[in-house]
Amino acid sequence: MTRAAITGLGTATGHRVVTNHDLAQTLDTSDEWIVERTGIHERRVGGSCLELGGQAAKIALKQAEIDATDLDLIICSTCTPDQVFPAVSNRIQNELGAMCGAFDLNAACSGFTYGVSLAQAQIAAGMERVLVIGVDTLSRFTDWDDRSTAILFGDGAGAVVLEPAIRDDRGVLSTYMGSEGRFADLLICDFGDYIKMDGKEVFRQAVRVMVSASQRVLADAGLEASDVAAVIPHQANFRIIESAMKRLDIPLEKAATVLKTTGNTSSASIPLAMDEAVSKGAINDGDVVLLVGFGAGMSVAAALLRWGQ
Ligand code: ACO
Repeated sequence: MTRAAITGLGTATGHRVVTNHDLAQTLDTSDEWIVERTGIHERRVGGSCLELGGQAAKIALKQAEIDATDLDLIICSTCTPDQVFPAVSNRIQNELGAMCGAFDLNAACSGFTYGVSLAQAQIAAGMERVLVIGVDTLSRFTDWDDRSTAILFGDGAGAVVLEPAIRDDRGVLSTYMGSEGRFADLLICDFGDYIKMDGKEVFRQAVRVMVSASQRVLADAGLEASDVAAVIPHQANFRIIESAMKRLDIPLEKAATVLKTTGNTSSASIPLAMDEAVSKGAINDGDVVLLVGFGAGMSVAAALLRWGQ
């Protein structure tokens, strides 16, 4: 089977930095509380999905050294589209000058990993260049007067180009897309309303589904937790990442984290953390990399890949 390999990666974040100290000016909270409970120090706010997603996509295309006209498909993961329709992906396609099909998917914070899974399937079926974008602007749906949610979210985008791997053992090794709709009420944003969340229960279920999805992709690829060189988890809360890594028996140092400066950027959080890990030299050719996301739905997705082409 042809495997999809990441050949280009780009990111963008909201232009305005909002620190914990800024939030403490208007909310009954403190930098200490937020850092201790979440690991977040600041978040980036502002920009539309078109602006942020388009920016990240252009960088990814440049890195992959391909023209937008060469793309076969654009998949854009978002749960905060700029409009009900058209899809953000249609607008980004136009912005890039691409000619291919384009659609949005909504699997909340699991969406980027769902997108990688779909890109793998399309490449196995014969496509040559698929662009997967994860973009969310949760600040538009955040009640900035609610200290239980306002501390968590930020805006951002990440994009990857996937192409058939040149070497047989490189690229996506296994994927998993899951949903537990019985937990749909734990995290809701209704039309015209703000994000409402049962934080404690989301926390509990998030750790469980992250661990089971990760174990599943490892088993499908015939690999062990000890084979994993880097984990790129959804960036919701540092303590969630810590608990999941402990249960997976993977050292915490192998987890890529970027939430300290971005907060939870939903669909964008995994590619943002990936970018940070690649820039730091934490992911190298041949490394087994585990992507694992969870979010509203409750959705969950994991993908295991061997880095490089
Ligand atoms: N500052 C100070 N105190 C606060 C704040 C705040 N910002 N928020 C809550 N508190 C208070 C509460 O009122 C409570 O006070 P009480 O004991 O007097 O009742 C106390 O702190 C403890 O509150 P908890 O909610 O129990 O705190 P917890 O340790 O669970 O942390 C948090 C809350 C950070 C929200 C955590 O539950 C969490 O991160 N959950 C997961 C959320 C998540 O990942 N959501 C995104 C999913 S992804 C997606 O799809 C968008």
